[in-house]
Amino acid sequence: MKKLFSIILIAVLGFSSCNVCKTSYQSASKKVKPIVTLTPLRPAGQKNVLGLRTPKMKEVRVGFIGLGMRGSSAVKRFTYIPHTKIVALCDLKKAKVEKSQKVLTDAKLPKVAEYYGTEDAWKKMCQRDDIDLIYIATDWNHHAEMMIYAMEHGKHVACEVPAAMTLQQIWDVVNTAERTQKHCMQLENCVYDFFELTTLNMAQKGLFGEVLYAEGSYIHQLEQFWDYYENDWRMDYNKKHRGDVYATHGLGPACQLLDIHRGDKMNYLVAMDSKPINIPAYLKNKRGEKVGDFKNGQHTMTMISTEKGKTIQIQHDVASPRPYSRMYQVTGTKGFANKYPFEGYALQGETLENVEGVPDHENLSAHSFVSENMKKALMKKYKHPIHRELEEKAKKVGGHGGMDFIMDYRLIYCLLNGLPLDMDVYDLAEWCCLAPLTEISLENSSAPVAIPDFTRGYWNVEKGYKHAFVK
Ligand SMILES: NC(=O)c1ccc[n+]([C@@H]2O[C@H](COP(=O)([O-])OP(=O)(O)OC[C@H]3O[C@@H](n4cnc5c(N)ncnc54)[C@H](O)[C@@H]3O)[C@@H](O)[C@H]2O)c1
Repeated sequence: MKKLFSIILIAVLGFSSCNVCKTSYQSASKKVKPIVTLTPLRPAGQKNVLGLRTPKMKEVRVGFIGLGMRGSSAVKRFTYIPHTKIVALCDLKKAKVEKSQKVLTDAKLPKVAEYYGTEDAWKKMCQRDDIDLIYIATDWNHHAEMMIYAMEHGKHVACEVPAAMTLQQIWDVVNTAERTQKHCMQLENCVYDFFELTTLNMAQKGLFGEVLYAEGSYIHQLEQFWDYYENDWRMDYNKKHRGDVYATHGLGPACQLLDIHRGDKMNYLVAMDSKPINIPAYLKNKRGEKVGDFKNGQHTMTMISTEKGKTIQIQHDVASPRPYSRMYQVTGTKGFANKYPFEGYALQGETLENVEGVPDHENLSAHSFVSENMKKALMKKYKHPIHRELEEKAKKVGGHGGMDFIMDYRLIYCLLNGLPLDMDVYDLAEWCCLAPLTEISLENSSAPVAIPDFTRGYWNVEKGYKHAFVK
């Protein structure tokens, strides 16, 4: 099977240098076809999981795997979510399990079953029949294997980002979710951020006209964190892989804005990177390592084109001394939104005629940000129903300002009520495929690479991205 995915059909025409020498116009008329990776056939009798609904539950019983920096805070957040029961905790390290047990006892909850000490202790936990949901927050290399095993043992799964790293893993996860008809959600928290979700609501209400371009990124210098990842897994991955290895925080919100696999689909990408400098220097100077061939570029840029003629730009830089940024820009025919370095909206004057109670109406132009008062009024008016319900509690519980709690809460709300989850396995596949596909583009002089349709033919069935609510 592995071999299957290594067969990449390179169909690049018009790159020949002699063509370019003859006359540039001659070569310009030839078409460059994207590199295509293999899409496996959907196994006979297997159904897609678009809009998947599973039976309602009175309580969601949860088992956690991976209790490091991220997983331990998830355990804490779950102590605030009604109708959940934490059943078991698992980590390689006993000390990390004990730390999370203390989180439970501090919250006046009983200690729970624990698994630790061996590489595959988590399998025993997945075999229990009193768990509904396996929540995974381990390193990237373990995610796919754990999700697949858990689904095969009758569990729904939620997995930290990026949930899968290779095309083989992604297709195996998609196939397992379809075969078992279990929920498989990637824990992408940034789609619940207050600015992102409000802006999505504004976009869905037509405030920006037709959204043509979205931008997102993960720009976060990780120098102070490198030493804290268990077994140095994150540095190790960056050492060995070129490409955007952490694209989901930027791509998730962009795909929701553009209704990806709900009326549009990403067709192909091209990627470019700059040479790695800061991390190899860090390894040499701080760790005394002899740095050989460090693969991950200092700054990786990806451009994506969609079936409906929209574009996305995604960036990754965990090396440079830049302020944290997820970029997050939305450009539509009637408006614009920007999150970093400051939040703002620009709207074409006519869009605002029907907005009630908004000050400063006369001062608007399509070319400058609306005033601070106007922005506040817009954000209040277009506050997403999810935020209306949860903002106050989310800010108290915390987790990246509240968005992490909202993500967990929504996951449980949808499971309890038998509703489709906010993010399905095809979102997971689409947002994770940038890692392997940008690597292919970069290794081929930034050649275009086709983005598979992970729904295998169903990308245009659902119309528009929606959150499900109990009626
Ligand atoms: N969504 C976000 O905002 C966000 C933020 C930080 C990290 N993350 C993601 O969370 C995940 C975990 O990151 P982290 O920073 O907590 O890393 P970490 O190294 O602190 O934690 C990983 C944990 O997994 C455990 N583990 C590894 N193999 C295991 C196995 N076989 N069985 C049981 N436990 C095992 C390790 O012992 C460790 O405690 C990563 O996917 C990361 O990208 C997401």
